[in-house]
Amino acid sequence: MPYSHPSTFMAVFPCEAVHARGRGVFFVCGIMGYVGPRPAVEVLIGGLRRLEYRGYDSAGIALGMAQGIHLVKRAGPLRVLWEELEQNPPPPAGMGIGHTRWATHGGVSDENAHPHLDCHERIAVVHNGIIENAAALRIELESRGHRLRSETDSELVAHLLEEAPGDLLHRLQAVANRCEGAYALLAFDLADPNRLCAVRRTSPIAIGFTENEVFVASGAIALAPWLKRCIYLDDGEMADLRPGHADIFRLHDLAPVQKAFHEVSVSGDLPDAGRHKLFFRKELFEQPAAWRSVMQGRLDEAGSVDLSDTGLTHETLSAVQRVLFLAMGSSLHASQMAVERLQQFAQLPAEAHLSSEFRDTRTFLEPSTLVVAVSQSGETIDTLAALRHARALGATVVGLVNAPGSTIARESDYVFDLRAGAEISVASTKAFTTQAVALDLLASALAAAHGRGPNIESLSALRAAPTIAEDFLEEFRLPNDLVERCAQAPGVIFLGRGQDLSLAREGSLKLKELSYVWSEAFAAGELKHGPLALVDATVPVIVCATDSRHAVKLRNSLAEATARGAYGVSIGADLNATMHIALPIHDATAAYLIGTLPLQLLAVAVAETRGCTIDQPRNLAKSVTVE
Ligand code: M6R
Repeated sequence: MPYSHPSTFMAVFPCEAVHARGRGVFFVCGIMGYVGPRPAVEVLIGGLRRLEYRGYDSAGIALGMAQGIHLVKRAGPLRVLWEELEQNPPPPAGMGIGHTRWATHGGVSDENAHPHLDCHERIAVVHNGIIENAAALRIELESRGHRLRSETDSELVAHLLEEAPGDLLHRLQAVANRCEGAYALLAFDLADPNRLCAVRRTSPIAIGFTENEVFVASGAIALAPWLKRCIYLDDGEMADLRPGHADIFRLHDLAPVQKAFHEVSVSGDLPDAGRHKLFFRKELFEQPAAWRSVMQGRLDEAGSVDLSDTGLTHETLSAVQRVLFLAMGSSLHASQMAVERLQQFAQLPAEAHLSSEFRDTRTFLEPSTLVVAVSQSGETIDTLAALRHARALGATVVGLVNAPGSTIARESDYVFDLRAGAEISVASTKAFTTQAVALDLLASALAAAHGRGPNIESLSALRAAPTIAEDFLEEFRLPNDLVERCAQAPGVIFLGRGQDLSLAREGSLKLKELSYVWSEAFAAGELKHGPLALVDATVPVIVCATDSRHAVKLRNSLAEATARGAYGVSIGADLNATMHIALPIHDATAAYLIGTLPLQLLAVAVAETRGCTIDQPRNLAKSVTVE
C-alpha cells in the first residue's frame, strides 16, 4: 500500500503557518505510531499520507528494532521519503513512529525533520506543537554535555527523556512537566520494547488498537484504514501503549482514566479529488449531498424539525432566551447569518463572536444563554478556548462540528454533527454551507420551542435547495470577463446587508484565500462612509443580494460605486449591475446557499487564472490546533 505510484501522493505545499497573538508562527504537524505484527513502515507511511492535507515540509520515520533505531528523514514531500525507503528498504520492524513537519524552530532540512533521537540513539520522539521554554532547555542540556543535532525544540525532548529516571511513562511525565507550551509528544525507547508513550497538551492525539497491535495518530483520519473505533486523549492526559492495550492516565498524578470509544467515521480510502482534480472543486460539487445529509431525519416534509439526535430537547430549547455563537473564519460567517435567522424565525436575541476575541472577555452569560461553538474541524484552538471560557462562566454549549469525535464535540454538552463528509481543501466549501443549513434547523427548532413557527416556506425551500443547487451547478457558467477583471484587479470589494453581509464576507474570504487577490467585504451602508474612496474602474464591486428585502438599498449602494466607474456585479436580486448573476430561487434561506456557489466558483476560477496552489493556499492551515 505505501509503495503505490508517487503520482497518487497529493501535491504538497507548505501550508500550516498562521500568525496570531504575537507569539510567532503556529502550525500543525502529523504524528503516526504503530506497534504490531504488520511492517511498521507501511502503517506509518499509510497514516502519514492521510495527514498530508494538513500541510508539511518534511517527513521522517524511526523504526525500533533490537539492533537499534532505523531513522530515515527527508526534507520535502512524503514522496521523497518514500523513494528513499523504496531504494533502501528498511529492515523489518513492527514498532515505529513517523511524522510530517512544518518548520518553526529551525529551517526545512533533513536534520530538523522528525523523529529526533537522544545522544545514544536509543530513544525516538515526534512532536506536534511548540515548546516555549526551548531556549532555556537547550542551554541547560548543552551545559550537561548533550550533543544536539538539530535546531528544533522537539529534539530537546529526546535528550530530556534520556536523563529522566524510571520507565518510559514516568520519564515522559517528568519531561512533559518541564516543557512549557502546547504540544503532543509520542516516543519509544529501545530499552522498553513494544511500547509507545504519548502525552497531550492541546494538540490532538487519537489512539486505537486491535487484539495484537496499537496505533496512534494526530487525527482519526490516519487510523481509518485499520480501525473502526478510537479513543482521544484529552488535554493533560498520557497514554501507555502496547499491542492490544492503551492505558490512559492523568498527566499530573498518573491516575488511570477511563475513556470512551468513538467511531472512526471517515473512509479508510486515501482522499482523492477524482475527476475534479482539486478537492476544493470536488467539495464544492458535493454541497447538495452534504445539505441532504445534514437535513436527513432532522427536517420532515411537514416542516417539523427534530434535533433529538443532538440531545437538544424541546424543554432545553424552550428555556433558551439568548444565543451566542463562537467561531472563526467561514464558521463565523455562517454564525453571522444565523444571528439573522434567530432574530427572524425565533425572535431571540443572538450574537456571533470571533472566538479569539471572546476568550478574553468578561462577558456575563445568563443560564438561559445557549452558546453554540461552530467549527468544521472541531479542533480550532481559539474556538476551543472560547468554549472553555463560556463553560467556566456556566454556559450550556452546543458543539456544531463536522467531526463528532473532535475535542470541541467532546467538551460540549450537546453535539450537532454536520455530516458533511471529510473536507480536505483548506478553504471551506461544503462545511460552510452545511453549517448554514444546520443553523437554519437550529433556529427553526428554537422557534418551534418558543411557539413561533414553523416558517413553512423557508423550510420547504431548504428541502428543495439540494436539487436546485445540482441544476445550478450543472448549468451555470461564470462570465470570463468577471474572472479576468478580478484576476487583474488591485482589489475586489464585496457588499451586502443582513444575511448578505455574511455572504459578502465569505465571498471575500474565499477570493483572498484561494487567489491572493486583496479583497474586503463591507456592509453596503458603510460604503459612502469611507470605502468608496477605494473605488475606481479597476475595482470590481460584487453585491450579494440573496435577501430581496434589501434590494432597493443595495441597488443604491451599487449605483454609488458604478458612478465612480466600478465594474458592478450583483448576485441574487437584479440591481442594474454591469454583470448580473440570477439565482433560481427567491426564498432568502435557500438563496443564501445557492448564492454561495457562484462566489466559490469565482474564487477558484480567479485562483486558477493566477496559477495559485488552490487546495493548500500559502501560509494557511486546515485546522489551527496549536497557538
Ligand atoms: O475548523 P473551523 O471551522 O473551526 O475553522 C475555522 C477557520 O479556520 C476556517 O473556517 C478558515 O477560515 C477556512 N480556511 C475558511 O475557508
